[in-house]
Amino acid sequence: MADRPDPQNHFYLQLRRRFRFLEEWRARRRELARGADLVLRHSPVRGARVGMLVGEEAGVPTRMIDARVLELDPGRRTSVHRHAHDAVIFVLEGRGTTIVDGESFEWEPWDVLHTPAWSWHAHRAAEPARLLAITDAPLLRALHLERVEDAGPVERGFEPLPAEPAEPAGAGSLYEEELRASKRAEEARAGARKITRWREVTLRQSPKGTRTALLVDRSLGFDTSGISLALFEIPPGKAQSKHRHPGEAILYVVRGRGYSVIDGRRYDWSAGDAVIVHQYVWHQHFNADPERPATVIRLHMWESMIEIMQAAMDPVPLYEDDPALAGQDRVWDQATPEAVGEAGPPSGP
Ligand SMILES: [Fe+2]
Ligand SMILES: [Fe+2]
Repeated sequence: MADRPDPQNHFYLQLRRRFRFLEEWRARRRELARGADLVLRHSPVRGARVGMLVGEEAGVPTRMIDARVLELDPGRRTSVHRHAHDAVIFVLEGRGTTIVDGESFEWEPWDVLHTPAWSWHAHRAAEPARLLAITDAPLLRALHLERVEDAGPVERGFEPLPAEPAEPAGAGSLYEEELRASKRAEEARAGARKITRWREVTLRQSPKGTRTALLVDRSLGFDTSGISLALFEIPPGKAQSKHRHPGEAILYVVRGRGYSVIDGRRYDWSAGDAVIVHQYVWHQHFNADPERPATVIRLHMWESMIEIMQAAMDPVPLYEDDPALAGQDRVWDQATPEAVGEAGPPSGP
């Protein structure tokens, strides 16, 4: 007679945990966050109106990135604060200034800013402003690393250490090397690019049928935790080619109207809505307007989560487009170094 599964056995515990997690996650996740459902509340501490569009607090749970909206009144500075999460800020409306670790950046609509993890920062609006902030707070919370600090007296409460003998030259311990590496990384982040100005952006034709440009990405000199932001325009009445990939994506509709087909279901959207594409589901975005383009910004965690997943899953191909599509859309099949532009100069606009 076969043994009955022991419920305390590590194997069965783990198996149950996996099933329960997936069951619960699939039941809770959503594909659309409505701009109309966004609730902004005044924060006296922050000095701004803040509301979550995509994220656990909005009833639209995500595992890696979230999206919140900030509204600023002119002439008032927000509190100075810092947090463990990285934030990329897309200016929806208004003009103003953001101070990041003492450096000042002026912004206007469709500019994008990066406030790196642990940088002290604050915003000041010159006219009523609306900002969309995309952060990796869900990922940091999953790792139990999220922390938010508003400026103010910090109670330390530790007694001073006795003086240590000076370190002999060249005899750094692992800990000293970690401190130095951390300092180098901090300096690299501080010196990295912090803003993309919309007026300097050129949209380029993509094989996926859209006109597109990266606005925040390592290739542009940003040093984010992996958050990468691209803007794309779907021509009137047209669609982006159908595809799937790992890595949660948030697509915020800046203007226009259309719909996305995700896992065979249709989700209609218009400006102010956000579409959430979960891991590895087939999806395609359509512009429903026969006359005007639809403009969408898409957020990914590229140089961290997507790269980790790609390495973990290698050699399984993790970018696929619909094999039923015509030749020009078979991006993955054509992904030789030449085809993806690794071998030659970048193509023109
Ligand atoms: Fe912040
Ligand atoms: Fe996608």
